[in-house]
Amino acid sequence: MTREDLMKIVGERISKCTACPLYATRTNTVVGEGSLYTPIMFVGEGPGEEEDKTGRPFVGKAGQLLTKILESVDIKREDVYICNVVKCRPPENRTPKQEEQKACGHFLFAQIMIVDPVVIVPLGSTALSFFLNQNLSISEYRGKEIDWKGGKKLFPMFHPSFLLRNPSKEKGSPKDLTWQDIKKVKAFFEQYKGR
Ligand code: URA
Ligand code: SF4
Ligand code: URA
Repeated sequence: MTREDLMKIVGERISKCTACPLYATRTNTVVGEGSLYTPIMFVGEGPGEEEDKTGRPFVGKAGQLLTKILESVDIKREDVYICNVVKCRPPENRTPKQEEQKACGHFLFAQIMIVDPVVIVPLGSTALSFFLNQNLSISEYRGKEIDWKGGKKLFPMFHPSFLLRNPSKEKGSPKDLTWQDIKKVKAFFEQYKGR
């Protein structure tokens, strides 16, 4: 089976999933999108309103900023894979609960097995904490390479919605640090794209 076939099966399972209470309030599930052959996978927290409406990840305000950040280093959205820890929108965009993350996590792990990226970029504290199974602050870990399962690396970055609330571009600001981080992501992309 091709990666496309496998991802289609995962998507069908997600679309029928009722394993946690978030199923009850969703309009659409949001599986993820992008290249299934990329070395880089971005993982956010969960769908927001626009994502719930459209079924696509990172298409609202935060998503548009993520797209711009990628384009600033000549990476197109379609060159990477973009998804979330939970596939259904939490009401009022609250943080998904640990039980919800646990109920949904096997889908993300399946996606990681299919795409087999070299570098996973958790966006924000929630995604970072999910991967490392403990509460961690993104400010402390963003821009660090962290060894993870199967020879993969985590390279955490600030969540774009955090950047929307902190628009300063001063030296050392979250946006300035993100600019440094995305340049590193670009270097990973170039290093690993032919792998
Ligand atoms: N925020 C997220 O964490 N994920 C999305 O898909 C959109 C906004
Ligand atoms: Fe299933 Fe995940 Fe949606 Fe919960 S968030 S219902 S576990 S797909
Ligand atoms: N992303 C940022 O965060 N800052 C820039 O200046 C460009 C892209």
